[in-house]
This record gives sequence, structure tokens and C-alpha cells, in this order.
Amino acid sequence: MKAAYRKALITGASAGLGEEYARQLAAAGVDLILVARRKDRLEDLARGLSQKYPVSVEIFPADLSRDHELSALAEKIRQTEDLDLLINNAGFGGKSKFYKDENGESEQMVRVHVLAPVILTRAALPAMIRRGRGAVINVSSVAAFSPFSGAMYSSTKAFLAMFSVNLQNELHGKGIKVQALCPGLTHTEFHQVAGMNKETIPGFLWMRADRVVRISLRALGRNKVIVIPGCRNRIISFLMRCPWTFSLVQWLSRRSWVRKMAAMK
Ligand SMILES: NC(=O)c1ccc[n+]([C@@H]2O[C@H](COP(=O)([O-])OP(=O)(O)OC[C@H]3O[C@@H](n4cnc5c(N)ncnc54)[C@H](OP(=O)(O)O)[C@@H]3O)[C@@H](O)[C@H]2O)c1
Repeated sequence: MKAAYRKALITGASAGLGEEYARQLAAAGVDLILVARRKDRLEDLARGLSQKYPVSVEIFPADLSRDHELSALAEKIRQTEDLDLLINNAGFGGKSKFYKDENGESEQMVRVHVLAPVILTRAALPAMIRRGRGAVINVSSVAAFSPFSGAMYSSTKAFLAMFSVNLQNELHGKGIKVQALCPGLTHTEFHQVAGMNKETIPGFLWMRADRVVRISLRALGRNKVIVIPGCRNRIISFLMRCPWTFSLVQWLSRRSWVRKMAAMK
């Protein structure tokens, strides 16, 4: 990939898709600011990338579900005048059903998937608008269209998809691209963190993180807002949005054997 951007900030860069964005952007010569909670992982990644490529890599350890850490990151963004790519990628899958959640997981999901992207995007836009160029990638999911991916997970990812579409419309003519990346099942640490059993899901439904990220970065040059990587994921998303099949998918999602297959708890 040719470097179309000079400096990118990636949330959730300590693993999975975020780490892969960091690798591909560094290889393209883009300076990086890496954000996540696990400082040791960020340090290792930053060291490795800056040894391998001629880029500057800064780390900013932060828990995006905590108000003061999110505010500090927003301030960092406001002070980084040359930031031209923001990737709101940090996220996690729910461990409990909404009505059983007693540990504040639902609220934490709103903070990480909704509040953080809103606040960080708002912080990044003024400088991008002044320069007349920049991009924001919000990592959503095919779950944004799904009636069986968890009340909080689906709805927060749906927010990111519609936020991106409408924001792109608002920013029309200002030289800024907005993308909602909607991956399907992707090999990362996500399922392990969420306590899901990957073995129950057929292998052909999975994609590799490097491929998903490559598709996202390529699509950024094509002004496409909703980006669904992989033919199977596009078919699945279409069927879930189509009125004729939506009811069938919803009916299926209530069957216990389907929920088991989809590794839902
Ligand atoms: N893998 C999939 O099948 C899939 C499919 C569709 C969409 N997605 C989305 O893709 C994005 C990346 O997930 P992934 O698959 O790469 O999972 P992953 O390997 O588990 O990585 C998640 C990243 O988010 C960070 N993170 C989680 N909570 C955070 C918090 N409170 N504050 C700061 N950082 C936080 C984690 O870092 P720390 O733990 O170090 O904080 C980690 O770097 C997520 O938004 C996920 O919803 C994944």
C-alpha cells in the first residue's frame, strides 16, 4: 500500500485487527500512535515496528471505558495537528446476556464501542477539516445487521455503521473519508476474550485479520462507507437486511441449536 496518510492513531492496537492495521500502515511508511490497555504489548509492537520500518511509533496506554483516560486521549488527538487517520477499532464481545449483566459489561460496551469513537472522532475532525484531508475508520461488524449477535454488541455496532454513513454525508466536500468496516468472523483474540468456542463454527466462515485489514485500507481509497470484507460476509449481511429473509433469520436465531452453533451463551 502506498502511504496516503502521514500519521494514524489506532485504538485496540495491542491485538488482532488493530495490531494488523499497525503492521500494514507502518509497512506503508505511516507514523503511528497505538492505544490499548496492555502497555507491555504496545511497547513490544512499537519497538518491533520502529526497528523494521522508518516510522515513528508512539504508545498511549488507555482504558477507553474510563472517562478521564478517554478525555486524556481526546486531548492528545487535539494536540496532534498532523493526525490524518483515526481508526476506532477497540472492542470486545459480551460475556453475558443483557438481562443477566451484573458487572456493568453493557455500559462498558457503550463506552468503548460508542462513546469513545464519538469523542475521539469529534477531537480529530477540526484539524482534518482545516487541512481538507483525513479519514476515520470505525470498526463495526456484520453483527450491525444481525438479530442474533447480542443485544448490546449488535446495537453498538449498528450505531457505528449509521454514525459513519451519516457523518460521511455531513462531511461531504470537506476531503474527509469515513468508513465503517463490518468484518464477519475473523481470527483474532476476540472470541477467546469473549469466552466463545471457535470450534463450533465452520472453518469456511472465518477470515484472516491481515486480509480484512488489507480490504479496509484499499477501500478507503474508493470512498466506500460500509465495507463488508469477503463475499460470504456480504451475502450474509444482505440476507440479514433483506425483509424476506430477516424474519427467517430472526426465527432461526431463537432456536437453541442455532444459538449453540453460533457459539452464543
Ligand atoms: N474478530 C472478529 O470476529 C470480529 C468481527 C467483527 C468485528 N470485530 C471488531 O473488531 C475490533 C477489533 O477486535 P479484534 O477482533 O481484533 O479483537 P481482539 O484481538 O480481542 O482485540 C481487541 C482490542 O481492543 C482493545 N480493547 C478492548 N477493550 C478496551 C478498552 N476498554 N480500552 C482500550 N482498548 C480496549 C484490546 O486491547 P487491551 O485488552 O490491551 O486493552 C485489543 O487491542 C472490535 O471492535 C471488534 O468488535 C471483530
